[in-house]
Amino acid sequence: MGLVYPLPTNRRSAEAKEINLENIMGKTVLVVGSGGREHAIVDALSRSPQVSRIYCAPGNAGIGLQAENVPIKDTDVPGLLAFAKEKAIDLTVVGPEASLSAGIVDAFRAEGLAIFGHTAAATAIESSKEFAKELMAKYDIPTASYKAFSDFEEAKAYVASRPFPAVLKYDGLAAGKGVVIAEDMDQAEAALRSMLLDESFGKGRVVVEDFLQGPEFSFLCFVSGADVYPMPLSQDHKRAFDGDKGPNTGGMGAYTGLPFITEEDKRFAYTNILCKAASAMVAEGRPLSGVLYGGLMKTADGIKVIEFNARFGDPETEVILPLLESDIYDIFYGIACGKAVGTPVWSADLTLGVVLASKGYPGSYKKGFEIRGLDNVNAHVYHMGTALAKEGGQSTAQARNDGRWPSGGQSTLLTNGGRVLMVVGRGKSLAEIKDKVYKEIEKIDCDNLFYRKDIAHCVFDK
Ligand code: AMP
Ligand code: GLY
Repeated sequence: MGLVYPLPTNRRSAEAKEINLENIMGKTVLVVGSGGREHAIVDALSRSPQVSRIYCAPGNAGIGLQAENVPIKDTDVPGLLAFAKEKAIDLTVVGPEASLSAGIVDAFRAEGLAIFGHTAAATAIESSKEFAKELMAKYDIPTASYKAFSDFEEAKAYVASRPFPAVLKYDGLAAGKGVVIAEDMDQAEAALRSMLLDESFGKGRVVVEDFLQGPEFSFLCFVSGADVYPMPLSQDHKRAFDGDKGPNTGGMGAYTGLPFITEEDKRFAYTNILCKAASAMVAEGRPLSGVLYGGLMKTADGIKVIEFNARFGDPETEVILPLLESDIYDIFYGIACGKAVGTPVWSADLTLGVVLASKGYPGSYKKGFEIRGLDNVNAHVYHMGTALAKEGGQSTAQARNDGRWPSGGQSTLLTNGGRVLMVVGRGKSLAEIKDKVYKEIEKIDCDNLFYRKDIAHCVFDK
């Protein structure tokens, strides 16, 4: 274990008796997750002069260039806790909602460990659609009118009494079921049947809400109790194909610098939505201590909430965090300790990022295709789903050295997920950034990737 020193009295755990030299020289951080969002978090942490060592569980190939990947699943709370204790981690930062819902924050805090993210009780603002809708109704936060049902016939009658399209949201964790926008009664009935009567999913509940119209945008804030620190606004592109066609995905690209949101809109959303929600959660005994993500829509009737998320968005994080000029460790650590933090400083630059996804995503897709040419790309590349070829694994045909990929190594980079890479550019003009990003993407050589050609079309559409 090397040299050991007594723990300074101001350090995190009164129980820990020893600390190794490395920890005195800088902070050790564990990031939980494996996507582009976590790569952007690791990248931001690596810019902190206080942070000397970053682990990521489980991470991905790109993250592995900036952090030490640890093969522990992001929902394996006992495994992550044991690792954090063993390595005397100063701070853990949680990416995915599944880890938060699994109670990782509660478990770490019970052991006196600093962790950035919400408790399971606070994560209900994302994990239960009905809880979120009730909260908004109770605290007068603008959102679509709704009603919640567990009875199929009652739900059907309510849908029939409202105008179409109808928005049907399954309440709770339900892979693939999510949100259905039904154009007519047949579609609504089929969706309600699968959400409420389908036995393989157990007994569900459904929120039926009115259909809203207008541009959507993402308003992420760092939240510590009732203190809310806004990040730059961004817009995701949820549909798979150009022109917002095709199935919903996790997000195919994002940018900052939204032309359709005024300062007044932002102030309204900050005060009447994000701050109100944070205070409401305090009043409900579920204070937030992480990121609150407002999925908002600018309707003819004002800005309204489509959904809240209890975490950083992906791909939004990859265009937001590069703009943070403050030390992210101070923000994460302060909030993890339940304190107010200094107002974060953001660059006035703009960013735009395009996601490269596996052909077939968000449906079924194959993995294991070789990715070449990343070393030539003159933009930031965040890895969303990549892996290094293992010895004897597929497409390791030749050991190669791509210069920058991986630095000095001889490994083959493979696709390993639905969303694989995100190329992010930065500058003063979205038109210039967009041209540059698309030019750089052409340097990436892989047989099984596709991407949207129209990221930020809202900015350029006449
Ligand atoms: P959600 O999972 O709640 O974010 O919903 C996924 C997508 O469905 C959103 O990004 C919207 O595009 C759409 N959506 C959800 N709720 C509504 C609504 N009330 N009106 C119109 N579109 C909606
Ligand atoms: N970009 C959408 C999400 O993170 O939920």
